[in-house]
Amino acid sequence: MSKLSIRGGKPLNGQVFVSGAKNAVLPLLAATIMMDGHCELKNVPYLMDVITMIRMLKALGLHAEYQKSNTVRVSNLKKVRHIAPYELVTAMRASFFVAGPLLAKTGFAKVPLPGGCSIGSRPIDIHLKGFTQMGATYTIEHGFVDLRAKKLKGGRVYLDFPSVGATENVMMAACLGEGETLLENAAQEPEIVDLGNFLNAAGGKISGHGTSTIRIQGVTSLQGCAHDVIPDRVEAGTLMIAGAITHGDLTVSNMAVDDVKPLIAKMQEAGILVDCLNDREVRIRTTGSFNGVDIETQPHPGFPTDMQAQIMALLTVAKGSSVVKETIFENRYMHAPELLRMGANIKVDNQYAFVHGVPFLSGAEVKITDLRAGAALILAGLAAQGESMVYGLKHLRRGYDNLPQKLRDVGADISDYPETFSL
Ligand code: UD1
Repeated sequence: MSKLSIRGGKPLNGQVFVSGAKNAVLPLLAATIMMDGHCELKNVPYLMDVITMIRMLKALGLHAEYQKSNTVRVSNLKKVRHIAPYELVTAMRASFFVAGPLLAKTGFAKVPLPGGCSIGSRPIDIHLKGFTQMGATYTIEHGFVDLRAKKLKGGRVYLDFPSVGATENVMMAACLGEGETLLENAAQEPEIVDLGNFLNAAGGKISGHGTSTIRIQGVTSLQGCAHDVIPDRVEAGTLMIAGAITHGDLTVSNMAVDDVKPLIAKMQEAGILVDCLNDREVRIRTTGSFNGVDIETQPHPGFPTDMQAQIMALLTVAKGSSVVKETIFENRYMHAPELLRMGANIKVDNQYAFVHGVPFLSGAEVKITDLRAGAALILAGLAAQGESMVYGLKHLRRGYDNLPQKLRDVGADISDYPETFSL
């Protein structure tokens, strides 16, 4: 298994740059299915989930290529195929983002049910309810969802929960629908704003994206265009915690400060110095120690579930106790038992994790179970005394654009051990 060795206790100092947002670029790539001609996406992070989505576009008949300088070019010149391959959807749940665009563009979408994943069962019922409220019908057979709609129709679409993926899928599909769709109880994440802006640049008529009510006026076609992907707020947050947990002096640049407000508020409450130098960079320092804080994950603009594991790593070495409540995913504490192996004091009880800060963590062998758990274990390794071996890097590569190198560049002592095979 590929692994990282981290010798902890080195303060991270200097400047580190954030890449484009994984969770923004995946629906942007899916949206290109609906656009005629050529699209150019810039500031695209180089990571496995992006490669998987590019493979998906190719499987559907588009031409898509990751080029130098973090640019992806997509050309949509032929007839789009409407069947998504099983191996790509099961490799990455976000592949289900192609359902809305395929349905809107071709009137059909045959997409495998994504199945559960390590952090929870993650159904797609809200996506499907959204499509049916726009006049689509569907059947589920042999593991595939078969969606059909001669022409999607506008109207009111109310989401039972502000699901990020369902909001994106419905918003994309409604762009090529007939009349106006009013999408209510929509998710408000920055990635949804980015998707709305991209669709508008392609000729869409969307307003209210970033609020809980989105208005989408259907248009007859969308034209390929160029777009810069927003910075990754989860990567930015992970790097901010890296600065704090190592008691360094770290400037995190190329980020969107507004998008990490919930994290900034919690870090400041803990007594960490967070200076917002401008709207694109923050400087992180500590005064020697920091305090426990309580966290409850919520849809945006609440504290993001995608930062829960990383902040838990920080709280393991805070002064005093913290209570973490995970409200979005039912099984998102898989990092906790691994942090225990490093000397953390955490008790998990259903939705809650009770964290009692310890004076220090000690390096250990730990295993990554999912993307953000991986980030948490690396953060813990950076703070721990001695050497940690972190296994299961494939999860990390799905969502971080070369995190180990970025950390090395600001002083972390990290070595990569690629996978080796022996008979
Ligand atoms: C997206 C993000 C993910 C983040 C999550 C929540 C991407 C590629 N991924 O995932 O990193 O952690 O938002 O901020 O953008 N649900 C249902 N039925 C549905 C859809 C969702 O019950 O049809 C539930 C899910 O199981 C989960 C909750 O709603 O418990 C939130 O899920 P959702 O907001 O849809 O997350 P994703 O779009 O999958």
